[in-house]
Amino acid sequence: MPSVYLQTFGCQMNAADSNGLAHQAWSLGCTFTNQPDEADIIIVNTCAIREKAEMRVYGRLGALKPIKERRPHAKLLVAGCLAQKDRDIMRKKAPHVDALLGPREYNRFKALLGSWGVPTDAPPPQTDFAMPSLEDEPGHDGVAEFAHLRALVNITRGCEKFCTYCIVPYTRGPLESIDPAEIVSQVRREIRCGAKEITLLGQNVNSYLWEPESLDFAGLLLRIGEIEGLERLTFLTSHPKDFGPRVVDALAQLPNVEPRLHLPVQCGSDSVLRAMARLYTIDEYLDKIAYFRERLPRWALTTDLIVGYPTESEADFLKTLELVQRGTFEYAFIFAFSPRAGTPAATMEPQVPPEEKIRRLQAVNAAQLEVTRRFNESFLGETVRVLAQGPSKKDPANMAGKSGHNTTVIYPRDERTKFAPVVDVAIEQAFSWGMSGTMAAHLTA
Ligand code: SAH
Ligand code: SF4
Ligand code: F3S
Repeated sequence: MPSVYLQTFGCQMNAADSNGLAHQAWSLGCTFTNQPDEADIIIVNTCAIREKAEMRVYGRLGALKPIKERRPHAKLLVAGCLAQKDRDIMRKKAPHVDALLGPREYNRFKALLGSWGVPTDAPPPQTDFAMPSLEDEPGHDGVAEFAHLRALVNITRGCEKFCTYCIVPYTRGPLESIDPAEIVSQVRREIRCGAKEITLLGQNVNSYLWEPESLDFAGLLLRIGEIEGLERLTFLTSHPKDFGPRVVDALAQLPNVEPRLHLPVQCGSDSVLRAMARLYTIDEYLDKIAYFRERLPRWALTTDLIVGYPTESEADFLKTLELVQRGTFEYAFIFAFSPRAGTPAATMEPQVPPEEKIRRLQAVNAAQLEVTRRFNESFLGETVRVLAQGPSKKDPANMAGKSGHNTTVIYPRDERTKFAPVVDVAIEQAFSWGMSGTMAAHLTA
């Protein structure tokens, strides 16, 4: 049976899609390998969010070229957002690619495999489905035994917010909400397969609406929160425009939701928010999080920030910096603006020079790391429940996992911890990147 190598770049959406592709390939009897030079079918699931992401993908495709030359029968499929965005230029930039499938085209995947000689009418496989490693480092397989603890479940597809910098609406198409019955049955299936943490996924989960039942995101959360056996529930990503008290109230009712909210603000200046077409002012954002802080104390609020946006002045930038310095967020993903061809911001004037973008990025980053470190220090002396990820990549004598706040926690790897999915860790040290401690108890159930 053909063997498949699958490498995933980009966000959790792509990770979820890769899972779906792997499942389809498995259902046709394919096996998986972590070695591209042993594979009959090589799949690269790609991202186009920033230039760097694209360059990594093209770098990887270049590295796969000699393998294709050595193994002429092997097929190379490029899936994901870059396949959609660069559909017309990929043939020129990477002529050794055999096929492209954008994120909306995965219903054609089995037929494509069929056209490559994979029998599509074989009986279902006798082996259990085991997800191949989703790490975007080739050959890294360390986390496979813990991968099933976390499951990603899509609740929407696409996005139609058209923030002026963003490529996603062009690569993933318009918003569609998924039938709640389908979502619930997938959550149940994942729990049966051992998932302890379910992440509901969408570019903007707050715009979820299932019209036949007038079910909005708050309603969906409450419905999923009731599912038996669900230990940890979380979701990505919220858009501040559609996020409101109804969702906060639903979260406050749920016993099994993880204490974290990712609510990308993007920047601290109203005029830049307008240029981004984000549809809220900074005061509106702050009002929303004031209610959130009141109802859900000691949750971690995380965000995304873009610095060096076209038209961003020094004064605009200082507003973002100040927002961060005030300790608004427990953690932030900070990006320098990257022009994406075809989006309005790519041609907006004036653009900020590259070295200035880097200066702003470093300043905001340093300020956030300080705030994050202080947040992590607030756990010193406490016991924190950790969901294991696997041996620490930096030091295999340790294990790494995530707390409910999504903070990295490091603890010694020993006979008791090396297979334990959930560990209670007494926190002894805190840093800006996470915290470390020793085992207080481990739970095998
Ligand atoms: N749907 C989510 C996130 C989408 S992409 C949301 O609306 O928040 C993740 C993050 O990448 C964005 O929040 C934004 O901060 C960043 N991003 C997107 N396009 C970018 C670009 N062209 N340059 C720099 N950062 C970008
Ligand atoms: Fe992109 Fe904006 Fe949609 Fe998020 S909400 S995916 S940033 S267009
Ligand atoms: Fe990248 Fe597409 Fe996700 S562009 S960030 S893989 S939605």
